[in-house]
Amino acid sequence: MSEKTASSTPPTPPAPESRVPAADRPGDATAGRPSHAADRPDAAAARPSQAAEVPGARRGSRMFADGTGPSPDPAGSHFERRIRSFQPRRSRVTTGQADALRRLWPQWGLDIDGQRVLDLDAMFGGLPVVLEIGFGMGEATARMAAADPSTGILAVDVHTPGQGNLLALAERGGLTNVRVANGDAIILLREMLPPAALAGVRVYFPDPWPKKRHHKRRLIQPEFLSLVAPRMRPGAVLHCATDWEPYAEQMLQVLTAHPDFVNTAPDGGYAPRPGFRPLTRFEGQGLEKGHVVHDLLFARA
Ligand SMILES: C[S@@+](CC[C@H](N)C(=O)[O-])C[C@H]1O[C@@H](n2cnc3c(N)ncnc32)[C@H](O)[C@@H]1O
Repeated sequence: MSEKTASSTPPTPPAPESRVPAADRPGDATAGRPSHAADRPDAAAARPSQAAEVPGARRGSRMFADGTGPSPDPAGSHFERRIRSFQPRRSRVTTGQADALRRLWPQWGLDIDGQRVLDLDAMFGGLPVVLEIGFGMGEATARMAAADPSTGILAVDVHTPGQGNLLALAERGGLTNVRVANGDAIILLREMLPPAALAGVRVYFPDPWPKKRHHKRRLIQPEFLSLVAPRMRPGAVLHCATDWEPYAEQMLQVLTAHPDFVNTAPDGGYAPRPGFRPLTRFEGQGLEKGHVVHDLLFARA
């Protein structure tokens, strides 16, 4: 099945940023409080102010009244009984983000609707494709895409402002090797990616879910590894990073125990931080608090 392909014409820069009303759709997976802040074990959660709607938005449908933009719940997954790795949160978008979503979504965005199998070759013009799960505001994603135009990045998050931000950054950088996927990465992996499609997977600073009763929400679990492994080519690397020590220990344990992955670190422990991974927003917050960051690089057996 053919998907959107890269444009050779660099798009025009977006309008300057300023705070505007935000999208807050009923039943939206992104409605609620921000998971970044909520999950920080040692940070005061940033309380979003009352959100309004993006002008022209239509409730229960796509973001914009003309039927474009990301969909609030593309796979209808609110009706699926399943533990999720993300916290529903309110989506405040800036004018710049809304503008990017309005103009660029049709070409560079895709909803994770669980209804079709993606043709990554067609989407990325034959480039090897790395999946990044949870790109947040997308600064690190844009930097990696700019640094390595020979790799495609399929960047997934549920966070609407981040999607708009990454689209704007990609446009500003003239990047044609990034696609922004809206929705739950689990559904993308389960329903929309063919076997051995991925040249790598990146999970940088996934929500740490520090409370014991929330540990089941952590993304890196044996079931996740069994889901992602068949979508990776042999030798493709799953690269995780976290600043939350107990989660790093859990990652090392479950990855080491999984038969489909082999630790690339010779001593079987954490790996040195690879030069291609930029500092991420969440990582910066952790470092300011004195946290130690661990990288884990495991190859698909
Ligand atoms: C703690 S933030 C880290 C963001 C970024 N990687 C960074 O380091 O700044 C984790 C992100 O993962 C996203 N996320 C969590 N579970 C997800 C899932 N199943 N599918 C897509 N995104 C997910 C959240 O929405 C959030 O933006």
